[in-house]
Amino acid sequence: MKTAITELFGIEHPIIQGGMHYVGFAELAAAVSNAGGLGIITGLTQKTPELLAKEIARCQDMTGRPFGVNLTFLPAFTAPPYPEYIRAIVESGVRIVETAGRNPEAYMAALKAAGVKVIHKCTSVRHALKAEQIGCDAVSVDGFECGGHPGEDDIPNMILLPRAADELRIPFVASGGMADARSLVAALALGAEGMNMGTRFIATKEAPVHDNVKQALVAASERDTRLIMRALRNTERVLNNRKVERLMEIEREKGDSLRIDDIMEQVAGVYPRVMIEGDVNAGAWSCGMTAGLIHDVPSCKDLIERIVSGAERIIRQRLTGLLEGRAA
Ligand SMILES: Cc1cc2nc3c(=O)[nH]c(=O)nc-3n(C[C@H](O)[C@H](O)[C@H](O)COP(=O)(O)O)c2cc1C
Repeated sequence: MKTAITELFGIEHPIIQGGMHYVGFAELAAAVSNAGGLGIITGLTQKTPELLAKEIARCQDMTGRPFGVNLTFLPAFTAPPYPEYIRAIVESGVRIVETAGRNPEAYMAALKAAGVKVIHKCTSVRHALKAEQIGCDAVSVDGFECGGHPGEDDIPNMILLPRAADELRIPFVASGGMADARSLVAALALGAEGMNMGTRFIATKEAPVHDNVKQALVAASERDTRLIMRALRNTERVLNNRKVERLMEIEREKGDSLRIDDIMEQVAGVYPRVMIEGDVNAGAWSCGMTAGLIHDVPSCKDLIERIVSGAERIIRQRLTGLLEGRAA
């Protein structure tokens, strides 16, 4: 399947693995890229630019195919040294960057001067248009269903994607709620040039996270995520657990006066404990509604092949069959 996204990134299938904190290590990015998709290393999981350069080198040892690096621009008090992270990326020879969080305008000149293709992940049409205006090559349109930060507009992809298609000139992929062949066909029908998956890629053989995390996703249903931190305007979709229930109790008690300090115990330092140690109840960690569509832990190759061949079947048999009056 050839789309504007496969052409832009030089990949075989229009499937991207979104950057994920403590999940997007070299093993996963290489496995996705080797399977013909676009794997992405999560830049800030590496605590320094030097460590990121090492992680990129590890990934280059595992794949000769294109992969990218995610740079998330956080509303942090002490900003990470982004220019140095960008230098590490560029000097390592990586030519694809997924930006997310705040608008990457301040770093576009450095990225473009080095010939980097930028795909910005955002949750609204207005932010996607801004990304187009500042020179991003593509956007990843992240709907309300997504794991992680869906923004504050709460627009699901059934509306957000055709709205993006109506307004954008640069290509975009559908992100959030994407999990299988049906997602890919639907994304293409709604005007996207491919799809970006987060949660689904955690439950794969190569994702270098504790098996408890993968099993928690297999066990969870589409009703098991919760939205937290709305009062902070930093809404996050997470998998429910006891700590998340406690956090939501605190949110109800504090109302609009909630401060990040009130929920530190439930959100700080959680990722290594969940992803590495396997304590899935350690606190709040991002998870999408696609948990309800995850029933197994395949290899990335099997997952991507299943999606691509399933999409072809849906298009050729079910959809074409409907046009030709055949029961599908
Ligand atoms: C555990 C987890 C961690 C994530 N960490 C990041 C991150 O550090 N930076 C980022 O831009 N997106 C992050 N995301 C969002 C994903 O890249 C992707 O946009 C999202 O998962 C898509 O929705 P889906 O989970 O329904 O596929 C994370 C998602 C998950 C599930």
